[in-house]
Amino acid sequence: MHIFEQIGPLEEYLNSCREDGRSIALVPTMGGLHEGHLKLIDKAKECSDMVVASVFVNPTQFAENEDFEAYPKTLLEDKILLEAIKVDTMFVPLDNEVYPDGSSQDYDVGEMGKILCGISRPIHFNGVAQVVARLFDIVKPDYAVFGEKDYQQLLIINSLVERQGIKTTIVSVPTVRESDGLAMSTRNNYLSSEDRANAPLFYQQLVATKASIQNGTDIPSATEQAEDALGAVFDVEYIEVLNANNLTQITTSSSKIIIISAVRLRETRLIDNIVFRRSHV
Ligand code: PAJ
Repeated sequence: MHIFEQIGPLEEYLNSCREDGRSIALVPTMGGLHEGHLKLIDKAKECSDMVVASVFVNPTQFAENEDFEAYPKTLLEDKILLEAIKVDTMFVPLDNEVYPDGSSQDYDVGEMGKILCGISRPIHFNGVAQVVARLFDIVKPDYAVFGEKDYQQLLIINSLVERQGIKTTIVSVPTVRESDGLAMSTRNNYLSSEDRANAPLFYQQLVATKASIQNGTDIPSATEQAEDALGAVFDVEYIEVLNANNLTQITTSSSKIIIISAVRLRETRLIDNIVFRRSHV
């Protein structure tokens, strides 16, 4: 595996790959790799001739009071994993390579960045857009792969690519779960054993809410019931049932629906969602 910390040598190497006619897929991550990340890499391999996996804990997407310092840093394990699954290139940039002279560019992430996770994390999606745009500029990938677990992030990146005319095709991968349904996440490592035992109730409730809507419960009642049930175990930040195409309120014509939620178990924040179609309204 080729490992780069600096942009210059990475660009030189990727230019030579492109000259050889190889297509490139980028998988951006913050490390702490788990099977969810590895599924993204499998998908990237299907799309392209070679995969670049980046590992960078991006400071601009964390607010002062968040877990930037505590975020798991497992670079050695990550390298071993990526090598084992034959990733061509690992990009582990230093802060000053990504943001030279501390420079940063603001992106208008639009209305979609101001709702749901954007309410409790007002600078988060701007930071995500900033780093993803920077990585796209450096790697110039033909494809970039993202997870549906971070659904709001995925839609914001889709709209960034569209608005900026970036020539990268965004590919998404369904959420990878533990056998008990909990969505895999680097932050699951923060959970105490007691909280880990309760955490699967989050996804179980989303499944129950989906069933309830499919059985004809109206959306306000289903949302309220879900909020009450989740509230018995978690601090509920939000749970909403929205149009999955653009995270707006459901109209009679919306058929692709998302149940999307963020909850906390003590200090640990969990997010999850389910997307489904309903045949009638
Ligand atoms: P990170 O949380 O490391 O996630 C990297 C990618 O893996 C994201 O596209 C995320 O949606 C995906 N992913 C994480 N858990 C997943 C799961 N259980 N199933 C499927 N995909 C999963 O998301 C970020 O990093 C950052 O915001 C980043 C995009 C790298 C920008 O800094």
